Amino acid sequence: MNLCIIGTGYVGLVTGTIFSHLGYNVVCVDRDAKKIDGLKQGVMPIYEEGLKELVDANVAAGRLTFSIDLVSSVRESDIVFICVGTPPGKDGAPEMKYVRAVAEEIAQGLNDYKIVVNKSTVPVGTGELVRSIIQENLTQPVAFDVVSNPEFLREGTAIYDTLNPDRVVIGAVNREVGEKVASLYQTLTDTVQITDIASAELIKYASNSFLATKISFMNAVSALCELTGADVEQVREGVGQDKRIGSAFLNAGLGFGGSCFPKDCLGLLHTAKRYDYDFHLMDSVLRVNEEQPLRFLARLREVLGGFEGKRIGVWGLAFKPNTDDIRDGKAFEIMAALIKEGAEVLAYDPIAIDNSRKEQPAATYVDTALDACKDVDALILVTEWREFKEADFEEVRKSMRLPVLFDGRNIFNPKEMRDKGFLYYSIGRADA
Ligand code: UGA
Repeated sequence: MNLCIIGTGYVGLVTGTIFSHLGYNVVCVDRDAKKIDGLKQGVMPIYEEGLKELVDANVAAGRLTFSIDLVSSVRESDIVFICVGTPPGKDGAPEMKYVRAVAEEIAQGLNDYKIVVNKSTVPVGTGELVRSIIQENLTQPVAFDVVSNPEFLREGTAIYDTLNPDRVVIGAVNREVGEKVASLYQTLTDTVQITDIASAELIKYASNSFLATKISFMNAVSALCELTGADVEQVREGVGQDKRIGSAFLNAGLGFGGSCFPKDCLGLLHTAKRYDYDFHLMDSVLRVNEEQPLRFLARLREVLGGFEGKRIGVWGLAFKPNTDDIRDGKAFEIMAALIKEGAEVLAYDPIAIDNSRKEQPAATYVDTALDACKDVDALILVTEWREFKEADFEEVRKSMRLPVLFDGRNIFNPKEMRDKGFLYYSIGRADA
């Protein structure tokens, strides 16, 4: 079976690599020649643990190739996956121009029956849109089917998630077509749900938005904890032990970032508006998410008596650990506010510094976690990298001008931090 994967971002590159690992012949296509050249030389465009090793092994085995030639790659394939980005447009609706452009080009490569699978996160109705674009641009009269197969992998654990899916969702016009795509996953899971196309498209948005809702709910509870003296970690444990609720995605913190949750909550809202449904729950989820770093900054401002002339260390720039992705990362909102109000910012991340320099050139980027503590009036932990959990806090405290530690992810024990001499502040827990 020959597979063509269009788009070598997180979803495309990981999906293509895993399919090649499962024994299929895969060509990964991207219009970015630099990216494709890099991949041919074993240079990964993203940081994802284990990815390079798998790419190298499957390239060496002759099952994984890279190309900028979409049309001929489609011609030689049985199943074509669309994995291009759908970033939020100006009005919050996903930007569909890449999906449209790719559908037009796919049509030119259709020389016999093929299945075109949409893996990009797209609004309800995109299956039909892709079908009609391909139909209008066919260069010869061939049959084809369009299938929706949303992706549920997380950055940072993308390989593991792809090899161990909770479920595979396939939206197809009929069962036979759905089962052809399902067969690709047969060695990975028995939990395959074949649905209609619109439902598959909505399952993706509903899943991400529901997870975001869990996070915002706990963040709102954390605000209440700060006001009432309750402890959000104890509340989380008690709530999460109810099997109907589950303990995952209940961690209070600075809010959710990344390229998916903020975009997909907006996307769901936009779909609702298109159909005149007032999905005000999603408005609130996004509002809590915007307020969370602002509340955190307000507490820090109060503790320090303003930011003017202050020197502040920031630990963690990636939107979450184990990735160099900084999209919608809370560190940037926080750094922008600090810098605007006159603070000097020393920023450190184990792997996301290069990406961060372009995003916030006014911060000073340092080479080690300890360098970000030198003579600072406060240290803010934004991303819960393991390196920070294991830091030598004796050295950290000695380096700081004032021992003010703001933990935006609740990774430390308040009493232990107080015993180590810190004025320790976290989310939804009693201050030091
Ligand atoms: C998310 C989904 O989890 C994936 O299933 C989905 O495939 C992906 O989006 C996508 O649509 O492509 P991802 O954005 O990589 O994955 O990262 P998550 O691990 O879900 O974290 C998202 C954000 O939520 C991060 O900023 C994280 O810090 C935050 N978060 C997560 C919390 O604040 N609290 C939690 O309890 C969990």
